[in-house]
Amino acid sequence: MCGIVGYVGSRDATPLLVGGLRRLEYRGYDSAGVAVQQNGKLEIRRAEGKLDNLVTAVAQHPLSGSVGIGHTRWATHGRPTEQNAHPHVDCGAVTAVIHNGIIENFADLKAPLVAAGHRFTSETDTEVVVHLLEDELAKGALLEDAALAVLPRLEGAAALGLISAKDPGKIVAARISNAGGVIVGYGQGENFIASDMPALLEHTRSVSFLGAGELAIVTATAVSFRTLDGKPLTKERTTVTWDPVAAAKSGYRHFMLKEIHEQPRAISDTLLGRVERTTGRVVFDENVRMTDDQVRALPRITLVGCGTAGHAALVGKYLIERLAGIPCDVEIPSEYRYREPVVTNGQLIVAITQSGETVDTLAAMHEAKARGARVLALVNVVGSEATRAADDVIYLHTGPEIAVASSKAYTAMLVDLYLFAIYLGQRRGTVDPERSRQLLAEAFHLPTLIDAVLGQEPKLKALAYRYHGARDFLFLGRGIQYPTALEGALKLKELSYIHAEGTAGGEMKHGINALIDEHMPVVAIALRDPVYRKIVSNIAEVRARAGVVIALAHDDDEEIAGHADEVVRIPRTNELISPALAVVPLQLFAYHVADRRGNDVDQPRNLAKAVTVE
Ligand code: BG6
Repeated sequence: MCGIVGYVGSRDATPLLVGGLRRLEYRGYDSAGVAVQQNGKLEIRRAEGKLDNLVTAVAQHPLSGSVGIGHTRWATHGRPTEQNAHPHVDCGAVTAVIHNGIIENFADLKAPLVAAGHRFTSETDTEVVVHLLEDELAKGALLEDAALAVLPRLEGAAALGLISAKDPGKIVAARISNAGGVIVGYGQGENFIASDMPALLEHTRSVSFLGAGELAIVTATAVSFRTLDGKPLTKERTTVTWDPVAAAKSGYRHFMLKEIHEQPRAISDTLLGRVERTTGRVVFDENVRMTDDQVRALPRITLVGCGTAGHAALVGKYLIERLAGIPCDVEIPSEYRYREPVVTNGQLIVAITQSGETVDTLAAMHEAKARGARVLALVNVVGSEATRAADDVIYLHTGPEIAVASSKAYTAMLVDLYLFAIYLGQRRGTVDPERSRQLLAEAFHLPTLIDAVLGQEPKLKALAYRYHGARDFLFLGRGIQYPTALEGALKLKELSYIHAEGTAGGEMKHGINALIDEHMPVVAIALRDPVYRKIVSNIAEVRARAGVVIALAHDDDEEIAGHADEVVRIPRTNELISPALAVVPLQLFAYHVADRRGNDVDQPRNLAKAVTVE
């Protein structure tokens, strides 16, 4: 999952490339590099580690040139070293490539190149591309024709950027399959490529999204497109409304904290325009093409998502079964895609993915489609692969989520799944107008309630500081709060690196109790819902074994203080929307534990914002 940028125009390319990489740093960051055309050849600067190391390398050996490409790397093939950093160049250092994805047949392609005398300098799969291009360019081909001769031979996922001093003033970008995206940005007398929007926003909002099997030829004054089998292609231009400020930190210490605090706004945005004021019916825009008859005929729904999105899928199951009476199951995409799943004729797959580029989720979508399912994608990123692979799309509309650990996208997913369940119920007659009105009123009130919970941040920060030294944590939940327990544990582990696990309260006696002692704080979600008594008895089991309990309870719960060591309180709301509220204190708790431990909260070690390779 790497970051790609490119510039061709009349300005000095290097600061523009580095600035773009800075905005993509969250995508992958164990090494970085740039290649710039200068005096008829290419100058390369690369560095291991954070982007600042590349900035130092460029400062020590300045570059000048107005055409270039740049890359931040999250290693797949080859250790994260300077030698393995992109861009990679051919033997004569006149052609360079940057790449996101995996070339699965690179060894087969490399052997004959080595035998023919090509000198490889890295362990990466990527490097075979530039030596294959070298041979094609040696025959006098234009860069795009050399690319069209080479790229169809690559197997696997790849998004690429190419430049060559043999065909100066040009960038060729291509997307071979469902690797991370490639976007072309249109400027005035200059043009750009990037793997996603934050790298482009300060320069342009007019863009085209490359689809799988497509190639772009980009010069300072012209952009044209081909399919990978060489046919001319016309691509529409889209205007993206995200402004640069939105993608900046807005004064918060981390994107993570900014995005936790953006949740009231994000939820208002995701609700916007989705409830008809006059009828109270939930409506989606033209991106949802499923007819009411198809909704009424749905026999079954399977929800898929990775990581945090997978937890949203678990909540979605409760919502859809409760409100629409449609049997639901939840699948882990990386398992589903290889399981030869049974797809019921006419069933729906709901694929939940913030980035729209998670390779396992995309593969699960394609697998289900191949078996006859209809696919609806719940996605944040406009123009991402999931939006092209799906039959129906519901956008989260939360604006860019930069922090690797998801927050506002998660609560927006929960609200959209809540809306979707009502939408299904209204069309299937399982939710009457009065019940709809009550449910929707709670959704519109949610931003206010989240604001109130965010107001408790100082209390949660103090709690986090008291427990930041723990080595293990357990999160307990039941019913619709079981996914909340899983999400709370994931937030804590991915941000603080503390071992944390979430479990269903009823599972305590089947093994988990063996873990309980005074060293492992237990966070219990004990809201006044139908399983409240059960979770209180779980709390008693923990206390009986000298465990420490942090209870998440309702404002007006007088009893809980007698059962727990610590109590965090949230306002009452409808049980079905409450997971979107209950998770907020857990997000703040995880953030402050991680910050207190001195972690790089926006870019946790070993993780990436979207995993676009297996
Ligand atoms: C992980 C991210 O890599 O992918 C998580 O770190 C995210 O935050 C998961 O939940 C799934 O990503 P997406 O984009 O498919 O929702």
